Amino acid sequence: MPKSISGTRHKMDVLIIGSGAAGMTLALNLPDTSNIAMLCKQDPNDGSTYYAQGGMAAVLDEYDSTDSHIEDTLKAGAGLCHRDVVKHVVEQSPDIIDWLVTMGASFDRRVSSSGRSEFHLTQEGGHSHRRVIHAKDATGREISHRLGTALSKQSNCKIYTQHIAIDVLTSDTLGGASKHCIGAYALNLETGKVDLFQADCVVLATGGASKVYLYTSNPDTASGDGIAMAWRAGCRVANLEFNQFHPTCLYHPTARSFLISEALRGEGARLRLPDGTLFMHNFHAEAEMAPRDIVARAIDHEMKRVGCDFVLLDISHKPATFIRKHFPNIYNKCLEFGIDINEDPIPIVPAAHYTCGGVITDINGRTDIKGLYAVGETSFTGLHGANRMASNSLLECMVFARSAAADIAAQTTPSINTSSIPSWDESQVTASQEDVILSHNWEELRRLMWDYVGIVRSNRRLQRAKRRIHLLQQEISDYYGHFSVNSDLIELRNLTQVAELIVNSALARHESRGLHFNQDYPHLAPDSEDTILEPLNYQCDQ
Ligand code: FAD
Ligand code: SIN
Repeated sequence: MPKSISGTRHKMDVLIIGSGAAGMTLALNLPDTSNIAMLCKQDPNDGSTYYAQGGMAAVLDEYDSTDSHIEDTLKAGAGLCHRDVVKHVVEQSPDIIDWLVTMGASFDRRVSSSGRSEFHLTQEGGHSHRRVIHAKDATGREISHRLGTALSKQSNCKIYTQHIAIDVLTSDTLGGASKHCIGAYALNLETGKVDLFQADCVVLATGGASKVYLYTSNPDTASGDGIAMAWRAGCRVANLEFNQFHPTCLYHPTARSFLISEALRGEGARLRLPDGTLFMHNFHAEAEMAPRDIVARAIDHEMKRVGCDFVLLDISHKPATFIRKHFPNIYNKCLEFGIDINEDPIPIVPAAHYTCGGVITDINGRTDIKGLYAVGETSFTGLHGANRMASNSLLECMVFARSAAADIAAQTTPSINTSSIPSWDESQVTASQEDVILSHNWEELRRLMWDYVGIVRSNRRLQRAKRRIHLLQQEISDYYGHFSVNSDLIELRNLTQVAELIVNSALARHESRGLHFNQDYPHLAPDSEDTILEPLNYQCDQ
């Protein structure tokens, strides 16, 4: 029997992997009696939530309506949104905003024509009304701060920073007949040991997978870990071909992944070629306010046609006081790079931004495995269809986190003997002396995804990507079998898995719809369905 070298064994009722809007909302909505552990890779603000700029879509204006928000979402989703889910989410939007306000969230306000103080609502692509509530241009920072403060007062939730979950565990691996999620292994970056977190229920709130692309608006944590862990455990995934590319990320040699919010276009910013020519009117009647897939594709098309490295986003015609009041974060960040947005247009490029597909869940966040939930960007709920409408995702995180919390609270404790869960075994591996393999493969994977599986695809490029990914998977699997785990290896293993799922989903769709554009199938198919992938270990009655 090999000697096991392992870290600490922890036991709790609910293990939440991820501390973004989804994870924190879930923890705040569980009963005080639940003993909760929350893991995050670095610190509680390391996910996309903290960086959200534009805001949250919610029906708050007296001239707006739930029906209109539903119809706009369905239209942006290009025929693949699940209407019942859209309705469920949109109907809860005012209530979610009330909840955030009771948590202390402070959103921008304005004085109405009748002298009343009301929320200032901004506009973004695809929305037919001003509907986006925001805290200047740093809404995610405000939400993270308020949820984090509330959570820090909750003594039943312990946050484990610097912990990276490696895989979830299911009871069938212990020889049991039923398949129930019973915990997860996680690498403690401070000790370098792998800890066991044993739990009655595990929630994946791990965010998206946009780091699979070379250029992304996302922070480093977005490596698709939840999707890869769920797939390996036996969960189905859906619609992973729909990667949203945000049209406007700052183009600057040293500005890493800085987003220029769509709210700038909502407030009148125009897109121009480097010579100043406007072009969006050639692509859509709504010009700059067209849905994101259309704007990103138009920019990509113009960059290739003209042969330029970036296009320009220009808001300099607006008064300087207006710009500084509404967009202080973007104004200051651009100034750091020598761009005064009061005077100069901003060089921008599209970058990977949001993972519309993910782990299939029901309306309560339940996955295919009992006791395993997925909420937030890692999940596929049916809300976004083939293209997420701007500012609908923070809302989705919170609506589903609340439903999942209620569902978890109503569960009875499973009667599974978990004392035999083995600790992590490192006796057969050694510390790697060849990290160059990892760094090379990171670069290769992200570049090939950008070049072959980006905004515009073709069958030939997708097949090429598939072959390369297969080779990378073999190398990484070999590496994983021989060397101790570290954060780069864990993330690369997951990203390669997600890349394979994205390519297989893209190959399965024989049409162009929403965010997925394939030159070999440039038209919409008359009937379309979600792309559902099943792992080999999927059991439909599990
Ligand atoms: P995240 O907030 O990404 O959190 C993921 C968490 O999981 C992190 O704590 C991470 O450490 C943890 N994690 C991941 N893997 C592991 C692992 N293996 N082990 C342990 N922990 C793990 N949406 C809107 O609706 N409105 C906006 O204005 C908006 N603006 C955006 C601007 C930017 C720049 C970006 C990047 C996104 C924006 N989005 C916006 C999208 C939105 O922010 C995200 O979809 C949403 O915040 C995702 O929340 P989440 O809780 O699912 O994940
Ligand atoms: C933005 O502010 O442009 C991002 C909004 C979103 O991704 O929903």
